[in-house]
Amino acid sequence: MHCVRTVTQDLYWVGANDHRLHLFENIHPIPKGVSYNSYLLLDEQSVLFDTIDWSSCRQLLENIQFLLAGKPLDVLVINHMEPDHGASLEEILIRYPKVKIVSTHKSFMLMRQFGFNVDSHELVEVKEGDTMCFGKHTVTFIAAPMVHWPEAMVTFDTTNGALFSADAFGSFIALDGKLFNDEVNFDRDWIGEARRYYTNIVGKYGPQVQALLKKAAGILDQIKFICPLHGPVWRSDFGYLLDKYQHWSTYEPEDKAVMIVYASMYGNTEAAAQALAARLADKGVTNTVVYDVSNTHVSDLISETFRVSHIVLASVTYNLGIYPVMHNYLMDMKALNLQNRTFAIVENGSWACRSGDLMQKFLDEELKCMTVLNERLSLASSLHEDKADELDALADAIADDLNQ
Ligand code: FEO
Repeated sequence: MHCVRTVTQDLYWVGANDHRLHLFENIHPIPKGVSYNSYLLLDEQSVLFDTIDWSSCRQLLENIQFLLAGKPLDVLVINHMEPDHGASLEEILIRYPKVKIVSTHKSFMLMRQFGFNVDSHELVEVKEGDTMCFGKHTVTFIAAPMVHWPEAMVTFDTTNGALFSADAFGSFIALDGKLFNDEVNFDRDWIGEARRYYTNIVGKYGPQVQALLKKAAGILDQIKFICPLHGPVWRSDFGYLLDKYQHWSTYEPEDKAVMIVYASMYGNTEAAAQALAARLADKGVTNTVVYDVSNTHVSDLISETFRVSHIVLASVTYNLGIYPVMHNYLMDMKALNLQNRTFAIVENGSWACRSGDLMQKFLDEELKCMTVLNERLSLASSLHEDKADELDALADAIADDLNQ
C-alpha cells in the first residue's frame, strides 16, 4: 500500500519511516526512529529526488508506482548518494530502465565504488549553477561538498521554491504521518534530536555548512519549502532553523548554561559533581545539566556540548590516565571540531591523581579556542569538608564567568 504526502502542487513525499534500525550509521542510537525522505515531481517529465535506505525500499517502490500510475520514471536526481539514501537506486534502475540519472562527478564515482550498477544508464553530470527544465519546473544545482560527504549537492526548484537540501536541515525521529514542521511541535519535541543529528553527523563540517548557508542566503526570498533527506519539510519559520544552523556551524553555544559531565567508579566523583551543581544553584545558576559519562551515549553528550557555553569535566584517574569513557568523549569533541567553550575541571585520584592535568592538556593542545578556568577541584578518593572552600571557589568562578 502506498503511503505518500503532498508537499505542494506536483510534488510528493514518497519516503519511508524506520523504527527498526537501532543504530544510525551503526553507531548513533535512534530510539524515536528516522525517516528517509524521497520526493517525486510529476511534471512533463517525472523526477525522483534521491532514493532511500535499502531497508525501506519496498515502501518507496509502492509509493512511486502509485503516483506514476503506469507511466515511466524519466529522471532520478541524486543529491547525496550515501547508502541511507542511495542504496535503493539499483532497484529503481531495474524497474525504470530508461531513467536518466543526474548527479555530480564525485557522486557517480562513489556509486561505482559502492558497486551500484549505473553505467548501463544515461548519466548526466551536473555542477554548480547548471540548470535543467522538466516542463513547468526548472531546477538549478548547487554544490554542497562535505555537507555531509564530498559528492553532495542541493537542488533548487525555481518554479515552486522547493530546496532539496540533502542532509542539511535534517533530523532524527520518524515522521509517522506528519510531514511539515508546522505539523509537529519542533521546539518541544524535535530540537534535541535535530541537534543530535546535526552535531554528530555534520558537526565536523561547520565551514562547509557556512558556505552552503551563504549560498542559501542569496535565494532565501525564493525558498518556499526546505526538503531535507531526514525529518520534516520546512514551509515556515525558516529564521528559527537558520539561527540554529548558524550557531552549530560556527561552534557558538546556543545557551548560557553549565553541563557537568562526570566519570565516577564508586560514586565519589559523582557526589562531587552533585555538590558542585548544588553550589551553583545556591549562587543562582540553575541552567545546569549533569550527565554520567558512563551511561549517557556520547552522541547525546556531544549534542549537549554544542548547546551549552560551560562544561565541567569531572574525572577519576584510571590507569594513570583519563577515565576511558571520558577520554572517548573528549576525542569525539576533537573529531567534531568543537570550539569556543569554557571548561572547568574536577579531578580525582586515590594515589597518583593525573586526570586533571591530562584533561587540561587535551583541551589546550588538541582542541581549538577552548578556555579552561584556573580554579580546579582536586580530590583524593572522595570529597571531604576540608574541600568546601575549593568547591565554593570553583562554583564562584563558573558563576562569574557565566554571568559575564
Ligand atoms: Fe543521511 Fe549523509 O546521509
